[in-house]
Amino acid sequence: MDKTPSSPTAVEVLTNLVADDLKAVNLAIVERMQSPVALIPQLAGHLIAAGGKRLRPMLTLASAQLLNYQGDKHIGLAACVEFIHTATLLHDDVVDESDLRRGQDSANAIWGNKPSVLVGDFLFSRSFELMVQADSLKVMEILSHASSVIAQGEVLQLITANDADTTQEAYLEVIQAKTAQLFAAACHVGGLVAGSTPEEEEALQAYGNNLGIAFQLIDDALDYSAKQAELGKAVGDDFRDGKMTLPVILAVARGDDEEKAFWKRTQEDQEFRDGDLEHALSLLNKHNTLDDTVSRARDYGNQAISVLDIFPDSPAKEALKGIVTFCIERAY
Ligand code: IPE
Ligand code: IPE
Ligand code: MG
Ligand code: MG
Repeated sequence: MDKTPSSPTAVEVLTNLVADDLKAVNLAIVERMQSPVALIPQLAGHLIAAGGKRLRPMLTLASAQLLNYQGDKHIGLAACVEFIHTATLLHDDVVDESDLRRGQDSANAIWGNKPSVLVGDFLFSRSFELMVQADSLKVMEILSHASSVIAQGEVLQLITANDADTTQEAYLEVIQAKTAQLFAAACHVGGLVAGSTPEEEEALQAYGNNLGIAFQLIDDALDYSAKQAELGKAVGDDFRDGKMTLPVILAVARGDDEEKAFWKRTQEDQEFRDGDLEHALSLLNKHNTLDDTVSRARDYGNQAISVLDIFPDSPAKEALKGIVTFCIERAY
């Protein structure tokens, strides 16, 4: 893509496209995180005020706009989607024992695990209140199903962690569930409230799904290669946790006996020595697995772009295409 210094980035294009709606979504989020139990808005507000890309709600808004939606039901749905995402982050940081989120101390690092889990539950419940307001059984079905699939994905991941023999298929099943399902649902419900045809519904779902898989593949590459300050999360957490992501799965498959023993010691037995993370990184580089992970993400990204072909050209379509490039080239 032609990028002059003055041309807006893909995220700016999308943000500008949905700017007014996004303001309304952010208001709805702050309003709906309130509770008379002070710890709830305190903890949730800490995470929410730290920002985040708001990628999933923007996908809902842009999908509705793609179909020229004129109503306002997409606002609550976008907020609902972000609540689901935020709830999973609170739970995920407890499970992954992550201390940094969105460039700040994670909620579990500040308040501990118990409040994080319980406020996560609160946000999940709020998301259900929000999805009911759309007054559509189908929308409720999609979003509630996405919630249970995400939870399933996180549990599945727990089972595949610390198993150096984890297959690519098992990994893809995990990221499909924990990440792609919500991206797909975010796009799907945005289209649905705007009256999408079954063909459009399918395309939006496929777009979100492929984008979500690409997004997580990149996230898993960044966990080894990003600069912590840019990412806003700790680099190397996946290695420390023994999370079997594609860069590692490929390196195990391509490694000799000594390398396989290294992965087994660190990822399965969780027995660490000084310099292990650096050694892991050198093995990923030796076998080119970070690049291969990125190119796999690019394949999914191209799929996401091509399913948008059925829609007539519009600024929303361009923004949705651009966001694919952003998700693949992102450093945060
Ligand atoms: C983090 O998602 C969780 C993953 C699926 C990797 P984001 O990177 O979208 O998190 P925020 O909302 O921008 O912080
Ligand atoms: C994504 O997985 C978590 C969810 C979808 C809940 P990660 O564990 O890789 O996400 P980060 O890296 O902590 O944001
Ligand atoms: Mg995590
Ligand atoms: Mg990650």
